[in-house]
Amino acid sequence: RASKEPPNFLYISHEADEKHVDAMNWDKLEFGVIPTDYMYIMICSDGENFSQGHLAPYRKIELSPFAGILNYGQGILEGLKAIRTKDGRIQLFRPEENALRMKMGAERLCMPCPSTEQFLAALKQAVLANKRWVPPSGKGVLYIRPLLIGSGPVLGLGSATEYTFLIFATPIGSYHKSGSTMNLYIENEVRRATPGGTGGIKSITNYSPIFRTVQKARAKGFTDVLFLDAATGKNIEECSSSNIFIVKDNVILTPPTNGTVLPGITRKSIIEIALHLNYVVEERDVSLEDVLAADEVFCTGTAVDVIAVSSITYRDKRVEYRRGKETVFCKLREMLTEIQTGLIEDKMGWTLLI
Ligand code: COI
Repeated sequence: RASKEPPNFLYISHEADEKHVDAMNWDKLEFGVIPTDYMYIMICSDGENFSQGHLAPYRKIELSPFAGILNYGQGILEGLKAIRTKDGRIQLFRPEENALRMKMGAERLCMPCPSTEQFLAALKQAVLANKRWVPPSGKGVLYIRPLLIGSGPVLGLGSATEYTFLIFATPIGSYHKSGSTMNLYIENEVRRATPGGTGGIKSITNYSPIFRTVQKARAKGFTDVLFLDAATGKNIEECSSSNIFIVKDNVILTPPTNGTVLPGITRKSIIEIALHLNYVVEERDVSLEDVLAADEVFCTGTAVDVIAVSSITYRDKRVEYRRGKETVFCKLREMLTEIQTGLIEDKMGWTLLI
């Protein structure tokens, strides 16, 4: 074991991944894993406090086969972006929101969590250490993945004996291969989230149960699946990795975050921008009928960004939506992008320069 490794249950391997930042073709970025130079790691061994966080070379990690994360899925993920502005600076977007959301998820999953200050300090270190991997402006972003896991061994059902907080990063391009629009398929059998469940937090266990459903929809040519609420099957909730908005007669509607819908940070920002631009926004149940009668539909998420939906298919009905420069979607997206990329002054106070 190298001297800098944490003393407890999670070990960092010696084997280095090869990294080729000089050979990167920034014009060909996809949404995939490209190892960067460093990761950040911080341990909690007493069930309450995280301490001695440090940067380590990005490496594979070793865990006990009994680790809480591997056996009982005790884990929370986050996602955020470091964006290079037109004049070459690097900025983060609302990172304190990620810290708060991780805390909310950790409480639900009975885990201790780094404080907001610890989260932000760790984030800055991880981004600075990997700054050569932040793509040139307009070519992509550095996607940052904070992860909180039960790393200690456990057998009887209950909280792990040790927790590990990690931050690692990879440069990314567009999430959906289709590029700038989505064709959605409304799923009627599988539900993503149930009342009282974990749909409203970024539990790692929320994702694999929908892989098969998304895979089947993609095989039929759809970009993604739109899930219905479990209680009635009459209202839309969200897609596999994004929140959804509809626009009807210039009123913007989106399902409420009442425990089964993830409180997306891009979702929240789009609502705030819409209100700033004097649109009416309603967070309320959005029925299948509302969706099929909408003028515009779009999705939001850190990874997917703000992306137009060109069609939705439900059973054998396919509805197409308005697109183009004059849409509400375009106006909202434009303002968000301009703030995120430093093209306009950030009067909202959302960006954090690194
Ligand atoms: C994100 O948008 O950051 C996400 O976490 C989605 C991810 C599961 C691909």
